[in-house]
Amino acid sequence: MASVLFEGVLNRTFDISPTALLKNSIIKSKYFVTKVDNSKISASIAGMCGIIAYVGKENAMPYLLDGLKKLEYRGYDSSGIAVLSGEGDIDLQKCAGRLENLRRQIGELAHIGNCGISHTRWATHGEASDDNAHPHFDQSGKLVLVHNGVIENYQKIRDDLENKGHQFRSQTDSEVLSHLIGSAYDDKAGSNGNNNEEQLVAAVREALKQVTGTYGIAVMHVDAPGFLVGARLGSPLIVGLGKGENFLASDVSAVVAHTSDAIYLNDYDLVCLKGEEFKVERIDGGVADFQVSQVEFSAEDVELGDYPHYMLKEIYEQAESVENAFRGRLSDEEASAKLGGLQMTPQELRDVDRIVLVGCGTACHAAMAGEHLIEALARIPTEVEISSEFRYRNVPMDKNTLVFVISQSGETIDSLGALREAKRKGFRVLGIVNAVGSTIARESDGGAYMHCGPEIGVAATKSFTSQYTLLTLLALLLGRMRDMSVSDGQEILAEIRALPDKIREVLKLNDRIKEIALKYVDAPGMLYLGRQFNYSTALEGALKMKEISYIFASGHASAELKHGVIALVSEDLPSVFVAPEDSVFKKNMSSIEEVKARKGPVIAITTEGNDVLERIADDVIYVPKTIECLNPILSVIPLQLLSYHFAVARGCDVDKPRNLAKSVTVE
Ligand code: AGP
Repeated sequence: MASVLFEGVLNRTFDISPTALLKNSIIKSKYFVTKVDNSKISASIAGMCGIIAYVGKENAMPYLLDGLKKLEYRGYDSSGIAVLSGEGDIDLQKCAGRLENLRRQIGELAHIGNCGISHTRWATHGEASDDNAHPHFDQSGKLVLVHNGVIENYQKIRDDLENKGHQFRSQTDSEVLSHLIGSAYDDKAGSNGNNNEEQLVAAVREALKQVTGTYGIAVMHVDAPGFLVGARLGSPLIVGLGKGENFLASDVSAVVAHTSDAIYLNDYDLVCLKGEEFKVERIDGGVADFQVSQVEFSAEDVELGDYPHYMLKEIYEQAESVENAFRGRLSDEEASAKLGGLQMTPQELRDVDRIVLVGCGTACHAAMAGEHLIEALARIPTEVEISSEFRYRNVPMDKNTLVFVISQSGETIDSLGALREAKRKGFRVLGIVNAVGSTIARESDGGAYMHCGPEIGVAATKSFTSQYTLLTLLALLLGRMRDMSVSDGQEILAEIRALPDKIREVLKLNDRIKEIALKYVDAPGMLYLGRQFNYSTALEGALKMKEISYIFASGHASAELKHGVIALVSEDLPSVFVAPEDSVFKKNMSSIEEVKARKGPVIAITTEGNDVLERIADDVIYVPKTIECLNPILSVIPLQLLSYHFAVARGCDVDKPRNLAKSVTVE
C-alpha cells in the first residue's frame, strides 16, 4: 500500500484483508494492527468549510454540535445540521451567523436520530444567509447534503434542472449537487432490484461524474436510515473509525475526542458508512488504496485549556513546537541535520543547483526566510514564488532544480496547484507540511512534517517558527554537504538546541508587550521594518496585525523607507523595527533615526544587552542573543503578541477574524 514516507512519519498500516477489499463487500470495521509506529504522528488539516457527519448507536446531535465547534475556525458565517431519525424523517436546522445562533435555534428540541450531517460555512457562492447555509435538500426533500469546495459548472447544471422543474432555495453551487444526486436517485428508483443504499451510492457516482470543480461531501437519504455516503475531490475529508460508530469530517480535530483512528481519503475516493461497517472504494467503483492512521494528538491538544484564545495558546506552544520540529533531526557526529523524509541520496542533494520555495501567506514569508538561509548556509541559488503566481507562470527550471511546497494545512489549493504544475513538468517536489496525511503531504515526493500539532487560530503563529526551523535544518544539511565547516555546523546545532529556552525567555515579555499594544491601540496603521533575515519577519508581523485587527499594516525592507514608504510616517503611525544586534544593526539604526526625525513613534525589537536604541526608540523590546540567522524565530514572537493584544484591545475576534478562514481550499 502506498504510504507517505515523510521525515519522521510512517503511517501506521492496518491489515484490512485484501480479499474483503477485492470483493468490495461491506467490511466490518474490525482491523488488526500489524505494525505499531512509534514516531510522532500529529495531524491537523484546515480548509474552507467544515463538515462533520455521524452514524452510530447514539443520538447524532451532540456529536455534530461538538464537531462543528471544533471546526468553526475553518469557516464561520453560517451553519446547519440535519438528523435522520430511525423512522426515516429528516430534521434540518440551519442559520446565518455563528454556531451559537444555530444552538439557540435548535434549543432544547429533541432531535433524536443516530445518523446526521452538519456544516459550518465560509461563503463562496451566495451571501451568508439562512437559505445559503448547509445542509441542502434535494427536490424531493428526502435527501440532504453538505459540501466543501466549488462546483465550477453549477450554473449549467442548475439551468438544466430548473428546466426539468427543480426549484432551488439558495444561490449556492452546493445545492445543485443535492438536486443532482437526488434526481439521479429518483431516476434509479426500483431499478435492477438495487437496495436503497446501493441506489444512493450509484446516484452519488452518477452525479459526480457530471461535475467539474472540487468537493468534499456527506450525503444521506430517508430511504436509507443509518447510512452515510462521502466523497472527495480537492477538498479534505477524513473517516473517523469509532466503536459502533463512524464519522466523516473535514479534519481530524472534529473527531479526535471520539477516536484516534482515521482514514485520510484520497481524491476520487467514495466511502459508505454505517455504525458498525465502512467501505472505501473509488468513485469509478475500483478498489481504493487506503490506510488507517493513528492520530497522535489528543482531544486536549485541540482544547483551549486556560487560554482565552487559540492564538495565544499557540504562541505559547512555540518552545515545544520548535523543539518538535528539530527533535531527532540533529546530527552531532556530522555537525549537520538529518532529514531522511526528503527521500534523496546525499549525491542527489549535492547535485541540486537551484531551489524554488513556494507558499502562500505566512508560508510564503517562511519561504522568503528560507531563501536567505539556504543561500547563506549552502550557497545554492534559491528563489521564492507565491503559489498562486508560480502555478500560472512557466518558471524555467532544470532537472537539478528542487521545488519545496510549504503549507501548514497541506490543503491550500494554490500551493497544491503549484505542486501539481511542477510535478506535471517532471520536477521533484518536496513538502514542508504540518497536517499529516494532507493532500500536499501525500502528493509530494517526500518532505518533512513540522510536528507543531493542530494550529486552530486562523492567524498562523507556531507554524511560522516551525517552518523556519525546518528551513534552517535544510540549509544546514545542504551546507554541510558543500563548504560549511564542522565548527560552523556545530555552532548552528548548539544555537538550535538553545532556542526553546530562549523562546521561553521571550514569552516572559508578554505583559510588557501588552502594555505597548495598549499604548498604540488607537493607531490607524503600523509599519514593520527589517533587513536580511528579518525582512520576512517584518512582513510576517504586518500580516499578523492586519489579519486580526483589520488595520493597515505593511512590511518593508528598512532601507525602502527612503523610496516612498517614509511618506506615510506621521506622529500617529508607529513603525516597528526588527533591529537585532547583527551585521546590519547600524543600517537599521539610521532608518530609525530617519523615522524619529519625522516624529514617527518607533517600537524596536533588539538584542538583550544592546541598549543603544533606548535613547532613540519610544519602546524597546529585548530578545536573547542568538546567531544572526536564527534571530527571526525569537523576534517574530513579540510581533505575534503585539498583534494579539492590539486586536483583543480593539474587540476583534482573534481566532476567527472577519472574511478569513484557516486555509484556502478554493481558488
Ligand atoms: C496566515 O496567518 C494566514 N492564516 C494565511 O496567510 C496562511 O498562512 C496561508 O493561507 C497559507 O496557509 P497554509 O500554510 O495552510 O498553506
